Amino acid sequence: MAQDNLVSMTRSLVAHGMAGTMELADEVVRIPASSYTDPALFELEKRQIFRRLPLMVAPSCELPEPGDYKAMDICGVPLLLTRQKDGTVGAFLNMCSHRGNPVASGTGKANRFTCGYHGWTFKNDGDLIGVASPQDFGAIDKAAHCLTRFPVYESAGLIWATLDPTSTLDIADYLCGYDELLKAFEFDGWHLFSQRTLAGPNWKTAYDGYLDFYHLPVLHANTFGSDFYNRANYFAFGPHQRLSTPSQFAIKVSGDDDQQMDLNAMADDQLPQEVLVQGVWTIFPHISIASFYGGGLRGAMISQLFPGATVGESYTTQFYVMEHEPTDEVAIKAAHDQFDFLEIVVRDEDYKTGKRQHEALQSGLMKEVLFGRNERGGQVFHQWVDKLTHASDDELKDIFAREMAQAAE
Ligand code: FES
Ligand SMILES: [Fe+2]
Repeated sequence: MAQDNLVSMTRSLVAHGMAGTMELADEVVRIPASSYTDPALFELEKRQIFRRLPLMVAPSCELPEPGDYKAMDICGVPLLLTRQKDGTVGAFLNMCSHRGNPVASGTGKANRFTCGYHGWTFKNDGDLIGVASPQDFGAIDKAAHCLTRFPVYESAGLIWATLDPTSTLDIADYLCGYDELLKAFEFDGWHLFSQRTLAGPNWKTAYDGYLDFYHLPVLHANTFGSDFYNRANYFAFGPHQRLSTPSQFAIKVSGDDDQQMDLNAMADDQLPQEVLVQGVWTIFPHISIASFYGGGLRGAMISQLFPGATVGESYTTQFYVMEHEPTDEVAIKAAHDQFDFLEIVVRDEDYKTGKRQHEALQSGLMKEVLFGRNERGGQVFHQWVDKLTHASDDELKDIFAREMAQAAE
């Protein structure tokens, strides 16, 4: 079913490519400029979107082995991810049940965490196993003082967690079947080559850039080139969207002599997996995945975006994951060069522009911004942000139960 879906998306892209067309949105959409600059709305979005919806918190290859852990802070919530003994992932509130000190920081390997304040100890599945000077706490119920668990879900080589321990929103429902398609990347066998974190503008300003190809030949003329095709077709799965260039052709990357493939002349079962997943895969509200070939080796950049401390700030962790870990010096350098190039593109072109745009919008002198019929990705993204920001918890569950039912039809 997922394979059929990937093939039919590719066939649609080929047909549009041959006809020189793209799928346009019904109308031009205007949204209030204040939705990028209003501090009250920004706080509401952090609460209603980032602290309530499942977030893709790590690629599985960041925590490949039992004992691996990562601590991170998302919108003021300290999160601890662990790879447990049985191979599953645990997601916990990174706060000691004694008086709230975080029990871990950074990344590393540990089967247990001893709190650095008074020495209480937890297993990496969250269980409290040691209380310092227990006689002074009486008959403390250890089971009632575990680390607080967050809902967590691992699929397609990616890990999601919901930063609300009481959430009953099913993470698979939230994904609307999209993770079944993402499995075509086969990320669960990939390697994390490198990662870095960049500062950016308002999180929606930054995310807009991942959702359009319209800007590519203009803003990225000096990096990607000015002849880059600026049109994309959008495929939506609930709030999650894949965008890809309508084209009859794809490049077969094979090191020195890349070849052009005519997809129209190929049977469905001849279409390579990397063609079936080409383009940009966004995962609402904050992830973008795109394929790259540093030195001919297959890789992908997974960009993970979070709101920053103020409405005009965000930060993005870029994970460069590779199908095969490069081993020789030349291949390692080529992968680094590819990743460094992407840092320049995003930092010096996308985010630099986003920051200038944000400063200008903050003047308050422009009331609305526009998304053209060719920018359906941005239209859909902002509609979902608006809808989910204002939905009650019950409505949220209904929305995704409906989306999941539709996806299954
Ligand atoms: S706060 Fe952790 S042991 Fe006291
Ligand atoms: Fe860009």
